[in-house]
Amino acid sequence: MKRGGSDEAKRRAGEAAADAVDDGQVVGLGTGSTAAHAIRALGRTVDSGLDVEGIATSYQSRELAREVGIPLTTLDDATPDVAIDGADQVADGDLIKGGGAAHAREKLVDAAADRFLVVADESKLADRLSAPVPVEVLPDAREPVAASIRDLGGDPELRAAERKDGPVVTDNGNLVLDCDFEAIDDPAGLATDLSALPGVLEHGLFVGLADAIYVGSDEDATVREQ
Ligand code: A5P
Repeated sequence: MKRGGSDEAKRRAGEAAADAVDDGQVVGLGTGSTAAHAIRALGRTVDSGLDVEGIATSYQSRELAREVGIPLTTLDDATPDVAIDGADQVADGDLIKGGGAAHAREKLVDAAADRFLVVADESKLADRLSAPVPVEVLPDAREPVAASIRDLGGDPELRAAERKDGPVVTDNGNLVLDCDFEAIDDPAGLATDLSALPGVLEHGLFVGLADAIYVGSDEDATVREQ
């Protein structure tokens, strides 16, 4: 799905982060169009002899990794040295993720990594987080969670599928509520509140997890250590 800025800017961010992967490392493979550039770049380095293993964060990243020849492992057998993943919005090093409904497994892998590298084009940068926050809910929990989110000041909307009638169903068999809180003053507080709701599998606020942000433009990529 098309989100964010130019493909060239995404490519520069993704390839710059892939360059930071060392021989012998286990790499968390993020989801989305920017992380896909990193996965393709890693595939090329595997072709030229780099010994890395990947841990996929979604059906999409697993299929792409298989296509480009990155050997896969799981969190059962390995801990990622580094994870490379995209974002829908970045402010002060905190993120909103989940535009592709993969944020539950992304957070699992990104948080487990020794270093989490975010890859984003410039259009994702903001002064404050304000994009709708994706919240993955168990199907039975949709209405109670929506009511609790309204109590927290949010406006939840069930995410509809694009080429299927009805809602998006995640890789984990759940639904997604996109919750508009407008400008978020306290991302850590909201993250805690959302995590506490029964029936919420995971939300797309990634607070204090990123170690570096690779920002791509049409001209170059720059790294912001956190
Ligand atoms: C997937 O659920 C998301 O968290 C993506 O990582 C995020 O939406 C960024 O995607 P793009 O790189 O395609 O903009």
